Amino acid sequence: MTLKLGMVGGGEGAFIGAVHRIAARIDGQWELVAGALSSDPERARSSAAALGIKRSYDSFAQMAEAEAAREDGIDAVAIVTPNHMHVPVARAFLEAGIHVICDKPLASKLEDALALEEVAARSGKLFILTHNYSGYPLIRQAREMVANGELGRLRLVHIEYVQDWLTEAATGKQAEWRTDPARSGAGGAIGDIGTHGWQLAEFVTGETPAALAADLTSFVEGRAVDDNAHVMLRYASGAKGMLWASQVAVGNENALRLRVIGDKGSLDWAQENPNQMTFTRFGQPKQILTRGGAGASEAGLATIRTPAGHPEGYLEGFATLYREAAEAIRAKDSTGVLPGLKDGLSGMRFIDACLRSSQDGGKWTELGG
Ligand SMILES: NC(=O)c1ccc[n+]([C@@H]2O[C@H](COP(=O)([O-])OP(=O)(O)OC[C@H]3O[C@@H](n4cnc5c(N)ncnc54)[C@H](O)[C@@H]3O)[C@@H](O)[C@H]2O)c1
Repeated sequence: MTLKLGMVGGGEGAFIGAVHRIAARIDGQWELVAGALSSDPERARSSAAALGIKRSYDSFAQMAEAEAAREDGIDAVAIVTPNHMHVPVARAFLEAGIHVICDKPLASKLEDALALEEVAARSGKLFILTHNYSGYPLIRQAREMVANGELGRLRLVHIEYVQDWLTEAATGKQAEWRTDPARSGAGGAIGDIGTHGWQLAEFVTGETPAALAADLTSFVEGRAVDDNAHVMLRYASGAKGMLWASQVAVGNENALRLRVIGDKGSLDWAQENPNQMTFTRFGQPKQILTRGGAGASEAGLATIRTPAGHPEGYLEGFATLYREAAEAIRAKDSTGVLPGLKDGLSGMRFIDACLRSSQDGGKWTELGG
């Protein structure tokens, strides 16, 4: 039996809601049956009708209450609204006893994120945060290789997540709320894409930096949040890192790249060519590892759907999170390697530390918490 999904946000003209809808369907585990797709009830209704969604609600609060009361109510809700609405919506559904699959970052404010921890614990329901890049097969393999010591002792972690779509003062739905601190949070690029890079590095290395020094800039005149961030990282293990997040890096589309370098070997993976990863053992020629190819790890193979040489990417990586969410809900079990509240809180602490450090002239700042 498929599980029943509801959605908050993701109405007509929205971006990520459509991606969640495709991802949820790929493995046939979910059926989308309910939604409060927009804050405008009329738009919510027309969007739901266009998608053939049976139950449309005028507000998320009404939806949480009504779905909790139905015998055939939703098993989980997908939250795909701008950042400031993540916590209020998540709280309403968790308190109604419904599992939550929420997009990142966890919140627009650290204190809201911290308050959610207690709500989630009390509810006993699962909370999954869609840091979708952790669903790629070669990222699962990279995590396994680092854990198995194939790179040796980690020395360097370099993360780039650079785009150019906010190079000029931008208009349009997606740009508008992302550059408004009230809806996006005080972090701009650092929150929108920096948190993805941060989580990806944590996921692969299993380590969280202890301190950072950040230089945040807003290059576009009048923009109230950063559009470029250079961040240096220090790990308790002695490893060093750098994270560059930018939305004004002309010539870059969705250039997320992770390099992890140890004293025995290194890995290099880029999201725009996700079916390959470079692995080098010190002193030996570079190897190109392929998704599903010879030498693919068990963790990587568990996430693929088509044989080696048949490209998979963004939608499939996202779908892996939906498949694993379904498995966790059915098994009434932990969420395994799926990102959740812990990742969300770490991301919020990262944004907070970057803001504090940058305001203090780039001073080395502890992560806190
Ligand atoms: N994981 C990823 O790769 C990824 C990519 C893009 C966006 N995101 C995240 O997804 C979220 C949405 O981003 P987007 O680009 O799709 O934004 P968007 O502006 O395209 O869509 C937001 C939607 O939320 C709706 N909405 C706003 N308030 C609402 C409310 N109170 N009730 C119901 N619906 C409401 C809007 O009407 C709109 O349909 C953000 O948190 C963003 O950070 C994640």
